[in-house]
Amino acid sequence: MLKNFWYACEFSAAVTAKPKQVVMLNQRFVLYRNSQGEAIALKDQCPHRGAALSLGWLEGDCIRCPYHGWKFQANGQCIDIPANAPETPIPLKARIETYPVQEKYGFVWLFYGDLPEAERHPLPTFPDYLFSTLHPVSQEVMEPVNYARLMEVNIDFAHIIAIHRKSFGQRVALDKTIRYAVEEDPWSAAASFTYDSLKSSRSVLNSLMGGRPQFTTRLSFYLPNVTLAEITVGGNGKFAIKLGILVAYLPIDDTTTCTKRVYFRNFLTSPWLDGWAKKLDYALGHEDTVIVETLAPQPMPRISEELHIAADALALTYRKLRQKYQAMGWELPPSEQTSRQPQTQPAQPFSLAKT
Ligand code: FES
Ligand SMILES: [Fe+2]
Repeated sequence: MLKNFWYACEFSAAVTAKPKQVVMLNQRFVLYRNSQGEAIALKDQCPHRGAALSLGWLEGDCIRCPYHGWKFQANGQCIDIPANAPETPIPLKARIETYPVQEKYGFVWLFYGDLPEAERHPLPTFPDYLFSTLHPVSQEVMEPVNYARLMEVNIDFAHIIAIHRKSFGQRVALDKTIRYAVEEDPWSAAASFTYDSLKSSRSVLNSLMGGRPQFTTRLSFYLPNVTLAEITVGGNGKFAIKLGILVAYLPIDDTTTCTKRVYFRNFLTSPWLDGWAKKLDYALGHEDTVIVETLAPQPMPRISEELHIAADALALTYRKLRQKYQAMGWELPPSEQTSRQPQTQPAQPFSLAKT
């Protein structure tokens, strides 16, 4: 788990005037919106007895602890201790850690680390067409796997014919050599590959899309915790299906990940089909999870400890970038990763408004 990055940590639509707990990096955070509509992020641990402030309530722009009602400003400063006489000074240590947040692309991004503002890398830039022309539906899924391993399967061109052999992978040629160029920058990388042998070319849908359609996938990752899959089926001057799967991975601990997923589509876009789209997204994601759960060890080993082939180039880029930041001392120390037991909340689906 890396520090000094912006983590996509919650859907913007899920952050309201009701405090909301987010668990990641073996820690608890509480998010809420102040009266100006700005998202606020605090450590979800009261300095008095460690209670989860996310079970407390808002008073104006302040939050009250659910245990003894201490009141904290959005800057973390305690300004009221009900059990003390009003003239009693507030202890200097009565304050909560706060975190910078930004909102973009329907997500709240939380900066976790100690870099000064001027040295923080910018938020990633996702393709505009996803948000301007495709219909999104979002959901949250808890996964019993390591987040880096799960990110890696989502930037892997070669797993389709095996992991997804009973679903969309059965239409892809088994013996296709996979080679591609990786486009890389300091925080992200992407690559595209075309599977040119979709079967069932006589179907009505395929003829609408121009005969035997190509199936082009562009896979991207953005450190520390986002992947994007852009899929285009068909074209040739006719209708092309376009899909986007944008996933934020919240590393809860070494073997638990909360994914916040957005599934974009340009077909069957009626909102009453959103439930179907969510089930499809979940089912295909679950095919990955079943196998990723078996990977040993779960935490990503060092590059030299596993085998790599040319088709793994994008995953290798991901591992090298991670190792680069780990070597800079940006890996969270084990004590910080394991000192607090997270308290998870049940998954709730949220709908994401178009931006
Ligand atoms: S634990 Fe928060 S006020 Fe006592
Ligand atoms: Fe997959």
